[in-house]
Order: sequence, then structure tokens, then C-alpha cells
Amino acid sequence: MNTAAPKKRVAILISGRGSNMMSLVQAACAPDYPAEIVAVLSNRPKATGLIWARDQGIETISLDHQGFESRVCFDQALHEALEAVGAEIVACAGFMRLMTPKLVKRWHNRMVNIHPSLLPAFKGLNTHDRVLAAGVRITGCTVHVVRPEMDTGPILGQAAVPVFNSDTTEVLAERVLTAEHRLYPQILSLFAAERYDINQEVAHFKEDCADGSILLSPKV
Ligand code: GAR
Repeated sequence: MNTAAPKKRVAILISGRGSNMMSLVQAACAPDYPAEIVAVLSNRPKATGLIWARDQGIETISLDHQGFESRVCFDQALHEALEAVGAEIVACAGFMRLMTPKLVKRWHNRMVNIHPSLLPAFKGLNTHDRVLAAGVRITGCTVHVVRPEMDTGPILGQAAVPVFNSDTTEVLAERVLTAEHRLYPQILSLFAAERYDINQEVAHFKEDCADGSILLSPKV
């Protein structure tokens, strides 16, 4: 008899190549992964990630935001599409579009996002350029619960990577992206398995599970 909890139905939102979406889809293939990816949606019909997802046999939905007369209308259509596929969790993975507070509230504590910095530092666009300009030695990525204000919300997990003197935007972005691909599947798994308590806008993992190591840069 299978007594495992039913897998949570996850819809992924993308706007482009969808490499994080791919890492989630691949992780969700594991029999014991607590979530299944039921659809990939994009606001850009030409998002290359849609082709990949379709080739995996996943339902894909393209909602061109340019075809809607307002952000409110687009978000209403997006909400209806998410409900139609029976989504229980929405995972934003490079979805580069601001959402209305109404949509975010409808998915309160059921929508997560990945951002390529150690939030709350470096919210917004062109993250890696600003990291390099600021001269920080360590950056990384964050998976968080979505709130109406951009790149805010209870933090579910973070990964840190060093910044090197020789880094260009592209090289740093690639190093952070490698960390994103490890972090996001792990955190979605914990979130889907209901391993967090969210209280007063802070997410507490039910056990401490960091290994206690310290990432130092420069290391002397
Ligand atoms: C990722 O680096 C993701 O963290 C970032 O866009 C990239 C999408 O790449 N998201 C944001 O900046 C959101 N604020 P992908 O399409 O290959 O996953």
C-alpha cells in the first residue's frame, strides 16, 4: 500500500530559456519527489523553454502579455490558466513580469520564486552587474515565497558563491546559475512536502539542516 502523501501539483512560470524550469522538471522525475510539474506557462510565446517542456510531454501554455489591454486582465487570465491546470503551487523560474497584488494574494504562500542574489541584497534587474560594481566578495541565489513587492517574501533557502576579481557579468551569472539549479529543486521539494512554518513573514525550516561550514572569500 502506498501511504505517501499525494504529490503537489506545480505549475512553472517562465519568460525565457527556462534552465531553472528544466532543473525542476528533471528533479520531479524522481519517484519520491513530493511534487509533479503539471504545466509550464509563459508570458512570451517565443520563450525557448516552452519548446523543451513540450518535448518532455508537459502541458505548455503561452499567454502573450502584449495581447492584453492591462496588467489586471493579463493576471486574471494567468490565474484562470493556473486554476484550470489544477496548480497547487506556482514556481516562478525566470518569469520577468511584475504581478498585481491581487494575483499574488490569490496565491498567498503558494507561489515561490528564485532570484539570483542573496536577498534582501540586490533586488531587481541587472543583479550581477550591480554585485560586481559594489565589490561584494560573496553573492548567490535565493528561493523565497512571493509577496506583492518585487523580490521580497519569506526566504526558503539560499546558496552562496564567491565573486572573483576576474569575473565578468556572464561568468558570474553562470556560477550563480549552477547554484540555482542545485538550490531550487531542493527547496521546492521541502516546500511541497510542507516542511516550513511561515510566521510573521519569516519561513522556519522545521529542522536546522545547514552543514555549519563557512564560505570565506578571499580565503587566506
Ligand atoms: C535566473 O538567473 C533567475 O534567477 C533570474 O532569471 C534567470 C532565468 O534563467 N530571475 C530573476 O532575475 C527574477 N528576478 P532561466 O530562464 O535559465 O531559468
